[in-house]
Amino acid sequence: MKSEKNNPLEEGLRIRKIADKNTLVIFGATGDLTKRKLMPALFSLFKQGFIPKEFDIIAFARSENTDDSFRKVVEKAIASEETSSDSIEPFLKRISYFRGAYSETDDFKRLKKRLEEIDNNVLFYLATPPSAFDNIIHNLGAVDMAFLQDHWTRVIIEKPFGRDLDSARMLNETIQKVFNEDQIYRIDHYLGKETVQNLLVFRFANTIFEPIWNRRYIDHIQITVSEKIGIEGRGGFFEETGILRDIVQNHMMQLLCLVAMEPPSTTEPNAVRDEKVKVLHAVRSLGPDIDENVKRGQYGEGSIDGNNVKGYRDEENVSPQSKTETYVALRLMIENWRWAGVPFYLRCGKRLPKKVTEIAIYFKKPPLLMFGHNVEKEAMANVLTVTIQPDEGISLSFDSKIPGYRTRIRPVTMEFRYGTSFGQVPPDAYERLLLDAMIGDPTLFTRADENEQAWKIIDPILTKWQEGSDIPVHSYRAGSWGPKKVDDWIEKQGRLWRRL
Ligand code: BG6
Repeated sequence: MKSEKNNPLEEGLRIRKIADKNTLVIFGATGDLTKRKLMPALFSLFKQGFIPKEFDIIAFARSENTDDSFRKVVEKAIASEETSSDSIEPFLKRISYFRGAYSETDDFKRLKKRLEEIDNNVLFYLATPPSAFDNIIHNLGAVDMAFLQDHWTRVIIEKPFGRDLDSARMLNETIQKVFNEDQIYRIDHYLGKETVQNLLVFRFANTIFEPIWNRRYIDHIQITVSEKIGIEGRGGFFEETGILRDIVQNHMMQLLCLVAMEPPSTTEPNAVRDEKVKVLHAVRSLGPDIDENVKRGQYGEGSIDGNNVKGYRDEENVSPQSKTETYVALRLMIENWRWAGVPFYLRCGKRLPKKVTEIAIYFKKPPLLMFGHNVEKEAMANVLTVTIQPDEGISLSFDSKIPGYRTRIRPVTMEFRYGTSFGQVPPDAYERLLLDAMIGDPTLFTRADENEQAWKIIDPILTKWQEGSDIPVHSYRAGSWGPKKVDDWIEKQGRLWRRL
């Protein structure tokens, strides 16, 4: 790895803001999220010195555990080749287990007592299934834990935040009865991804891109979230959810907002969030045109990396007649002066050939090509690609003359890659978001109106799919790039999906 001395771009990587002192209470501490994401992220922050001395974790869950047995589970989750047990020990010491039921007010009274003894700021993290949210919030209110006399309290809430507009509104009402909006941190881990944050810097800290970031120069935009994995044993959850709710309503809407928003006048949290909400307000309602603008698909059996994999309907806890979508493609239009007439194509799917998330901005072709008919055919439009993951970076493709005596053209690319430029991979999204919540910066969390407005775009699709049994669910082979019908659909509009 390059040293900071050799690579001036690494300067600034060491600037750190340490979290406020706090006690983190994790509800749902024995769940998968805590193991896979929260504990590794907390441990990484701890190792890097972002966590203050007065910090501890109360792991709240229903099952029988002792501090020791729970610490062993955490140790297993965070251990890796680079970590010795000596380095893990001081972190594990900060964790205690608290057995309780989310519906039992008495358990919350005990929790309150414990917190009073510790006498610290408190960050609650709701890492439970959404069915437990109401009970937890209600009980935090019932025992008067939402506001402390000399300390701050905040609450982080995991997705899914609602399953449609009505339930999201109800959940917002429930939480806002107990906490103030500025204490509520709705997490969407996509916002914690370094490349997603870099979108704002790329657009607004440079002068050359913004003048062409509009309908005059841009033909269309493609946003893709492609995953190789299937539903990973979450059949029950996915049957209820589908990919539209699981990924489009939150992660993809956030990407759309950051690409399309106007420059905020400051980076103050609400200034940024105000601009994002304006984008969502400007998305043309899909109303009666849903079939024309939204296509859904479901994977059948196929092969991924040379291994045969089951079709969705053969997965555990999935109905053999299921119509749940594992793939979706949408065309959205944003009705404002910047974007009128520019289609935004969003596509995402499970069991596609590659894991990749990217945003591709397709610019218009030049008005006149004077290099002859053949050259015209070879010329490609410029495409600016922001790769969110993996191999995070930005690239610009442009046409260049192939060396030789004749004029022939081929697209070439200019590239920036995080790994090569900064000599390190970006931190995990949960690290950044946990740290922000402990510092009290809600910029990268979703505000109530933002979440509700995103549901307003999605709701009519869900309703239409529920009503119309004749709306096709196109099948695609696992390991392919989605339904052929969806390729035909975009081709008919004179565009092609980007080859990834
Ligand atoms: C989660 C979804 O929010 O995001 C999963 O529930 C999905 O279905 C995951 O696999 C994708 O996240 P990432 O960070 O791997 O792109």
